[in-house]
Amino acid sequence: MEWLNSISEDIIPRNITNKEEKLEVARKVAMKVKDGDVIGFGSGSTSYIAAIEIANRVEKEDLHIIAIPTSYEMNALCQDLKIPTASILAHKPDWGFDGADKVNNQNWLIKGRGAAMLKEKLNMVNAGITYILVDNSKIVDEFESSDNNLSIPVEVIPEAVNSVKEALEDLGAERSILRKAEKKDGPVITESGNVILDTKFVEIYDGLEDDIKSIVGVVESGLFMDYSVEIIKPEEKKD
Ligand code: A5P
Repeated sequence: MEWLNSISEDIIPRNITNKEEKLEVARKVAMKVKDGDVIGFGSGSTSYIAAIEIANRVEKEDLHIIAIPTSYEMNALCQDLKIPTASILAHKPDWGFDGADKVNNQNWLIKGRGAAMLKEKLNMVNAGITYILVDNSKIVDEFESSDNNLSIPVEVIPEAVNSVKEALEDLGAERSILRKAEKKDGPVITESGNVILDTKFVEIYDGLEDDIKSIVGVVESGLFMDYSVEIIKPEEKKD
């Protein structure tokens, strides 16, 4: 029997910004799918669109793939789209795709607006290559400290919040703010039971990712430096 309701309708954000460009890059990554692939599925609106485009190809061409989702939402969407899923415990991804909040000219990424960066990074370090799908609003030359919107999410075990904040300040953080939940009192709790500190650094230097990770109580950060990624961006429009 089929369910009459679809969880995707509740999960896919209603107002997706830069939707045309996101669709363009989603279609490009969908063309990379081959029969038998095990694919890491990222999270966020661009990844949702890519999952839908991949599901279209899977259905039309009778492809057999396995998705390794990086969040509750992506897992639910894959169920709706009839894409078989597995845990990374069962399969190593052949490749993956994901979105990003910012990409610079060294292919460093800032991710984690949706607080899913822990599983996103786990997929990324295990996949041969991860295609990063970005619309033009995500692409910057450098990560400028003057950009007020440029904060790095840091996932922290709840007991360590005060101590991690202090250590982040020692690394050059101007501020680190506990991410609050919407429509629930208190903080955002990640799928691994942790909290998020949205952290603004004076300088994003080479090695900062490792320095953040070395703080006791930090689980992961949204800074992705020097991973095996290929950036997929929209074609430049000719006038
Ligand atoms: C999820 O935690 C994030 O890392 C997303 O991949 C990132 O925020 C991109 O999201 P959008 O595709 O919605 O812009």
